[in-house]
Amino acid sequence: MKISYQKGTLKSSRSDALVVFAAEGGKALDATLAPLRKSFGNRLGRILSLEDFSGKKNTLCTFLSEGKLPAPRVLVAGLGAPGGIGPETFRRASSLASKKARDLGLKNITFLLPGEIPGATGAPTAAGTARALAEGAILGTYRFDRYMTENRSDRKNLAAIRMLSLSGRDQAGIRKALSEADIICRAVMLARDLENTPGNDLYPETLAATARASGAKHGFRVTAWDEKRLRQTGFGGLLAVSSGSDRPPKFIIMELNGGVKNLETIVLVGKGVTFDSGGISIKPPGGMGEMKMDMSGAAAVIGTMEAASRLKLPVHLVGLVPATENLLSGSSMRPGDVVTHYGGKTSEVDNTDAEGRLILADALAWASTYKPSAVIDLATLTGACVVALGHHATGMMGNDEVLMAELKAAGEKTFERVWPLPMFEEYEKQIRSDIADVKNVGGRWGGAITAGLFLKKFVGKHPWVHLDIAGTAILEEPLPYSPRGGSGVGVRLLVEFLSARGKGPDGR
Ligand code: BES
Ligand code: MN
Ligand code: ZN
Repeated sequence: MKISYQKGTLKSSRSDALVVFAAEGGKALDATLAPLRKSFGNRLGRILSLEDFSGKKNTLCTFLSEGKLPAPRVLVAGLGAPGGIGPETFRRASSLASKKARDLGLKNITFLLPGEIPGATGAPTAAGTARALAEGAILGTYRFDRYMTENRSDRKNLAAIRMLSLSGRDQAGIRKALSEADIICRAVMLARDLENTPGNDLYPETLAATARASGAKHGFRVTAWDEKRLRQTGFGGLLAVSSGSDRPPKFIIMELNGGVKNLETIVLVGKGVTFDSGGISIKPPGGMGEMKMDMSGAAAVIGTMEAASRLKLPVHLVGLVPATENLLSGSSMRPGDVVTHYGGKTSEVDNTDAEGRLILADALAWASTYKPSAVIDLATLTGACVVALGHHATGMMGNDEVLMAELKAAGEKTFERVWPLPMFEEYEKQIRSDIADVKNVGGRWGGAITAGLFLKKFVGKHPWVHLDIAGTAILEEPLPYSPRGGSGVGVRLLVEFLSARGKGPDGR
């Protein structure tokens, strides 16, 4: 989808449809519809009342312009009451309008950038609005249909959206926001594609190949260790989990701005289980197919590397992905096994389905070798986190209040919200082992927390945050601009976090 900017009048809205955003309530509705009223006069009121359109959230009204505008069709999208209008309002309204336009078979649509909305105190700037509208349109119309051979030709897709500004205000800012949104949303879609690709096509080698291809194209370094290197280095957790699979594991290392002076080092770690059957502690069959998305943390890290590189963010960014399948065979790890992780600590495998923490332990211990100023891991780690928070918040744990506050702020800005879970030391006794340094399961209660505490044992003396994205990455039901399936969560969050870091609290 192509995204462009134009300063002009409604007469320059030549495309398949003009999309206008309207707020709810007398004064606000009037102000937002004023440009249309110039073309349609009293007819507009009649059309809207016929459709009972009042500007409410999640509503659309469409009508034919019958020669009054160069665009044959008009879509009016409701924003709700001015007091509640923020970036998320525009993402959702844009997604709704874009999906409608697409389903009508339209190809090119023009969004009229709203002017000042009376009473909308939380509304973003013109550039912020343009950014949110682009995000809603691109992410909302995403579809994963590469495996469909039938009905595909009649699949409709938008080709281009244009942002029309009547005022021409902050042209440079809007153009920049649009190009950033384009880069970031492409990275989100890369992450979604990786998540949605089935396990017969996406496995450690192909995951590494995708990372390598992105790195080659967009300018970050990618290497992938093979099994031999993993054995030499002592990645016992990753090797144990992969032992049941015929496909060899990989440890993917991505690096941006390596060797550039005076940059802080941030390490991102993503769980890359390309399919999780549970292993010998096998999962029940219902919904097991979703576990092709158990590499969503890896997808978020790869997407973030790509976006950070294309945006030229001034940070030494390292992305680490332990990649493996978790399967069963005569060579699988067994419950009761003890594995030795990188760095020498041992863990007792009480349940082979708690495999994510075993591979992250090696990667988190390895992360310390970069002497990072922050380490952030993302993982579809526990069903318990989905029970606790559902699909609308990522579980956050960590050892540093400042880092957690930064992620919280980035989460609010992007609406990829994170929510803290406690790491009280009292929970630790649940993962004590009689035979090793730690046990990989902590019993029924507080499962997301005991998983976080397991990881903490392998983290060095630097700020660290663990994000459990089990509920937010894998969607059983669509969200306003994420279809069912992989959401690509984490990319927008991390890019916002990285962009804001080093700028003041009012960075942008
Ligand atoms: N990948 C799963 C967690 C998961 C479950 C992610 C549902 C998304 C949706 C993880 O490897 C796992 O199996 N965790 C176990 C841990 C348990 C054995 C302590 C779980 O959550 O049941
Ligand atoms: Mn598992
Ligand atoms: Zn898993």
